[in-house]
Amino acid sequence: MKGTLFVLGAAALLIGVAFAQSNASGNAENGKRLFLRDGCWECHGYAGQGGTAGARIGATSLSMQGFMRYVRQPAATMPAFTEKVVNDSDLTDIYAYLKSLPPVKPAKDIPLLNQMKNQ
Ligand code: HEC
Repeated sequence: MKGTLFVLGAAALLIGVAFAQSNASGNAENGKRLFLRDGCWECHGYAGQGGTAGARIGATSLSMQGFMRYVRQPAATMPAFTEKVVNDSDLTDIYAYLKSLPPVKPAKDIPLLNQMKNQ
């Protein structure tokens, strides 16, 4: 009986470690789902591009810690999201999703913005 408990305990520990590791870098696919579920898109746009209500956060330059800190305690008008609403693991996935988005193109690489010059 003791042996069985030990094996069960060890298995639970291994699953826990595997789970923590898979979460360390975040799951962008799940992050996208959470970005939509938790309403980040309402202000930041579907692709984190920003809009009238929220800043551009796609391909954010914030560190993971900075990102977490900001969402928990925003500096200005953004509502705070507590651990109860979006837990750390969810935020890690949202961060991975934002990091997976392409960075902003410089204006010189957008043809429409350079048409006048070329004519
Ligand atoms: C009601 C609108 C609103 C919602 C919903 C919202 N934000 Fe924001 N967010 C803002 C605004 C506005 C800013 C610009 C700074 C400020 O006013 O706090 C901002 C700024 C940020 C920044 C800092 C950007 C930077 O580079 O300094 C991050 C990160 C961020 N939001 C993440 C999130 C995430 C993740 C969610 C969803 C869990 C979310 N926001 C939901 C309005 C919103």
